[in-house]
Amino acid sequence: MAPPDDDSGSKPLLPKLSRRAFFTGAGASALTATLTQSVAEAATAATGPSVVGPEPIGFSLSINGRNVSVQVDPATTLAEVLRNHLGMTGTKIGCDRGACSACTVWLDGEVAASCMTLAFDARGRKITTIEGLARGDELHPVQRAFVENDAMQCGFCTPGMVMSCAALVERNPKCTLDDVKQAVSGHLCRCGTYPNVFKATLAAAKGGGKPKGQS
Ligand code: FES
Ligand code: FES
Repeated sequence: MAPPDDDSGSKPLLPKLSRRAFFTGAGASALTATLTQSVAEAATAATGPSVVGPEPIGFSLSINGRNVSVQVDPATTLAEVLRNHLGMTGTKIGCDRGACSACTVWLDGEVAASCMTLAFDARGRKITTIEGLARGDELHPVQRAFVENDAMQCGFCTPGMVMSCAALVERNPKCTLDDVKQAVSGHLCRCGTYPNVFKATLAAAKGGGKPKGQS
């Protein structure tokens, strides 16, 4: 049975449309959308995506508060740029594949594996390395605590450990033993210095955790 006519007197919200008109209109809209997309794709194909490398390219990085210009193949990692191009060998490369954390630096204050970061992608970020942690002759509290608590043996993992522990105490001066364990959970120390690393980090946190003059 046909539905009764609407006798409420109100106007329909949409004009009456036959099935044929509806599908014809929808087809036209779809065609328009497809054409618009094709034109956009053709424009992209004409200009091409921006490609850099493999030749060395020049760009600048902000490292420890200084702008530094480098000229490297864009596939070069930040760890390689620091060590091989800028002579900043405090950052170590252990595994070179994101498994040991020896290469830890800060990017905008957050810890990052520099062997897994392209230097090109670090443009515009604030890079802090172990060389930038001390204030002149004054060690960062975590560096000092590592020395006072004998938290190193061969020292190969130490710069990375210090960067992670310093990031933790700056972020959370009330950190607990569990927090410290979590912060260094990705760091491999073949000399087994973990207990003293925990002690040192908690001692630094107890002393405020931040370099003097920094609130
Ligand atoms: S050297 Fe980067 S994680 Fe091992
Ligand atoms: S102190 Fe030797 S690897 Fe950690």
